[in-house]
Order: sequence, then structure tokens, then C-alpha cells
Amino acid sequence: MAQFPTVRLRRLRYNPKVRDMVRETYLHKNDLIYPLFVCPGENVKNEVKSMPGVYQMSIDVLVEECKEVRDLGIPAVILFGIPEHKDEQGSEAYDPHGIVQRAIRAIKKEVKDLVVITDVCMCEYTSHGHCGILRGEEILNDETISLLAKEALTHVEAGADMVAPSDMMDGRVAAIRKALDYKGFTNIPILSYAVKYASGYYGPFRDAADSAPAFGDRRSHQMDIANGDEALREARSDVEEGADIIMVKPAGAYLDIIYRVKTELQMPTAAYQVSGEYSMIKAAGKLGWIDEERVMMESLLSIKRAGADLILTYFAKDVAKLLD
Ligand code: PBG
Ligand code: ZN
Repeated sequence: MAQFPTVRLRRLRYNPKVRDMVRETYLHKNDLIYPLFVCPGENVKNEVKSMPGVYQMSIDVLVEECKEVRDLGIPAVILFGIPEHKDEQGSEAYDPHGIVQRAIRAIKKEVKDLVVITDVCMCEYTSHGHCGILRGEEILNDETISLLAKEALTHVEAGADMVAPSDMMDGRVAAIRKALDYKGFTNIPILSYAVKYASGYYGPFRDAADSAPAFGDRRSHQMDIANGDEALREARSDVEEGADIIMVKPAGAYLDIIYRVKTELQMPTAAYQVSGEYSMIKAAGKLGWIDEERVMMESLLSIKRAGADLILTYFAKDVAKLLD
């Protein structure tokens, strides 16, 4: 291999036009999925304290927000529900007239050309805040997956374009696929939170969705942060069960996992830049310690460079404006 001074890597950096010509990775609006939180009431828009710029919105406000998101050129939103009532079984999760189901109908009636994805989990709906139903302090797997299948089905019956199970129970993708197919929804894709770590970065989300576990944690079903090979086993098993898109979550601290999942499985791959990642950038930006906009773009471009095709991010609207 030729060496300095014959080789000078700086030659291709010497002016902005040349740099533009050799740039390898781009962010595009089509890469973005915007998370939204829907709550009961009317004309409600509560800012989440630990997530500046993120709101809990009642359905009427949410519909207007979805129009704005669509007009900005963002192709998709993912909905999270904050129910009126929580109970042991999380029954509003799979109630055909639950908060998310009503929100989907309202969006579908008024906003064309927006892909509506729903988060499928129990933790926002259970009184104990766990992602499944309990026996004592054990989170039951097999009993939970039939409820998740019911939840997904009610979302799709309300008009959801795609469902995204985030619970990390085993076998839930297969259960959801079977329930959807049985009712004729053979074309509705499943975006699986296939590789979801038991992460400290979800803290602010639990304020936003009011879903902190009342006792214990999520380590009996979410992945150990130390494990990489296991991520591939999780992703492969979800693909075999019928997942159409594989998600890795969180994103920024798991770029190696995004890279491995993308290169080994060659599946459409999504990454979730989660609440804590967002809030840290926001907070440091507010303090003037970093340039918020610059770090926002750097964090997202890095996720893309690692191999993500799609990014779920609370920055989606800011990015879309910047790309204009
Ligand atoms: C529900 C769910 C969580 C997130 C997405 N879906 C929280 C959790 O697992 O505790 C986190 C998203 C974020 O932090 O932005 N299971
Ligand atoms: Zn959950």
C-alpha cells in the first residue's frame, strides 16, 4: 500500500464541495419514525418534564400534531397510550375502545399519507407497570403473549398500518402474526423490538408514559447489556417467527449491535434513539455545554452509519426541518 507523502487523506477534505462528493452516509426524512404519547381528555398538551419538546397529547391535539408531522415529510409515527384506568391485567391495552385504538381511528379519519405504527406492550396499562401479567412477582410469558396478540389485533382493526411489540416475551411475534393472519390482516407488517436491552436510558420515557414498574425491574425479559451474540439469537428467532423489520434499542450505546444485526441478517433494521439519549443531548444543549443541533445530527448519522435503515427519534421533527 502506498504511503505518505504519496498518500494524503486530507486531499479529499480540502474544500466543502469535495467533501460533499465523497460523503458516504446521509440522513433522509424517510428514515424517521416519530414517537407520540396519547392521553385521555380534550385539548391536553402536557410537556414531559424530563423530555423538553415532548408532550402527552389528547386525541384532538394528537390529530393536529400528526398533520404537522405528515406535512414535514416524516412518513411514520409510533403511538404510545396513557390509559384512563390501569388494572392488574392491563385490560385497556386490548380494549377495542382503549385510548390508542380511539386515537388510531381519529388519525386515520383525518390524516392521509401517514404510516401509523403502534407500540404493543402491557406496561403502560398495568397497575403494577410490568410488561406482562403477574403470578406473584413473576412476569408470565405464555399468558401474556395471548393478550399481546389481542392488543395488536385491536390496533390493526382500528386501522394501524404496522404493529411494534416491545415487551420482549418469547414467542410474541409468532402469536401476533397468527392472530393477524387468522383475521385476514396478512399484509400488516410487524416491526419487532427484537433486541431490547434492560437499559438505564429509558428513565424519561417512564415519566412520559407513566409506566415505571411498581417493584423490581425488567431484567427477567429485557436483555443483559453485556450480551452481543444473544442479540443475534433474538433477532434471528423473531425473523423466523415472521418479523418484517428488526429493531435494536437503545441506539447510541449499541452501535456495535446495530452493525452486527444488519450485516448478519440483512433485514430492514430500525434503531430506537430512546428517551435518555434525547434528554441528555437536550439537557447539555440547554446548559450550553454542547451544540444541541450539531450533536443531534451527529448522533443520528452515526446510527445510520452503523447500519440502521430506520430511526425512531424524538428529534424527528427538528431533523425534518433541518433537512429542508
Ligand atoms: C414499553 C417501551 C419502553 C420504551 C419503548 N417501549 C419502556 C420500557 O421498556 O421500559 C422506551 C422508549 C424510550 O425510552 O424512549 N415496553
Ligand atoms: Zn413494556
